[in-house]
Amino acid sequence: MVKIESFGKTKSGKKVFLYTLNNGKAEVSLTNIGAAVVSLKVPDKNSCLKDVVLGCDCALRYENGDKYLGATVGRCSNRIKNGIIFLNGKSFQLSQNEGDNQLHGGFEGFNKKLWDAEIIENGIKFTYISPDGEEGYPSMLKTEVSYILTGTTLEIHYKAISDGDTVCALTNHSYFNLDGVGNGDILSQYVQIFAEQFTTNDEHSLPTGEILSVKDTPMDFLTPKQLGADINSDYEQIKFAKGFDNNWVIKNYDGKSIITAAKAFSKHSGITLEVLTNLPGIQLYSGNFLDGAGIGKKGAEIKNRSAFCLECQYFPNAFANENFPQPVLKAGEVYDKTIIYKFGII
Ligand code: GLA
Repeated sequence: MVKIESFGKTKSGKKVFLYTLNNGKAEVSLTNIGAAVVSLKVPDKNSCLKDVVLGCDCALRYENGDKYLGATVGRCSNRIKNGIIFLNGKSFQLSQNEGDNQLHGGFEGFNKKLWDAEIIENGIKFTYISPDGEEGYPSMLKTEVSYILTGTTLEIHYKAISDGDTVCALTNHSYFNLDGVGNGDILSQYVQIFAEQFTTNDEHSLPTGEILSVKDTPMDFLTPKQLGADINSDYEQIKFAKGFDNNWVIKNYDGKSIITAAKAFSKHSGITLEVLTNLPGIQLYSGNFLDGAGIGKKGAEIKNRSAFCLECQYFPNAFANENFPQPVLKAGEVYDKTIIYKFGII
């Protein structure tokens, strides 16, 4: 059963909805603005449901916001240096919404679009058609994002097709706090990333092309580590971002298989999260730009380091770095990627 409620209106007066699915074990609320996850309630060790993702109470806050809370990010997630991409030997200038660079699809990325919604078995399918030239991207892109809730697992399936060669690199930008949002910061929560390497950034958070081993660095999350352990380290990458904000190279990526990229847990709530994907990279972002501004659910402040993201993705700035997998979708090909958030108890 899906409960459909009003979620307010966009600036231009279009109605927005909140879709809530509850299967007796977990509950997810989704909205068609940004095809976003608004809330995700899972049981803690005492069987109490805890909302483990940041979100807001109405559509306008998503439209005016700049934190991508729970949103679908596209056409290209993360940063592109100077907003320039290359396709078939031709360069294209995209919109530049973060200084000279493009971040998360431009000024009005997929996170700000009003998607069509359709109820499917155990879930909702959102559809958006991005016209040729939107934010500078060539060709039309038809995108489907399906959220499916089974038990305490939320699966997100991405499908896209284009009428010409283009870029497609979608992600979900959920911010997690495994103690439940509003219950302090995430510094004592543990994260494990199944990656032996990470991509290094310049001071503008743009990958330089260098891929380094995590060995003997604070970027080593091969065994579970508390986020607070190295977050204030003077390691250059961490200083640049004022916390964690890099891309890790997922071990055993083969382009097809859906594999575990990361795990996280809180000893306090007992809630565990496993992130699976068939994408090549994962961004650990420790909420460094959360600044208390923006109004969260029930008027709560969204404080610094009050949640973390594990964004499954193509490596950022791939067009400037030929050694990275290229997020190119050829005309007629089907983009078919999955991100899974699987919850449990320690
Ligand atoms: C991603 C980026 C961060 C930041 C957030 C959005 O996680 O890596 O640098 O831009 O999105 O605030």
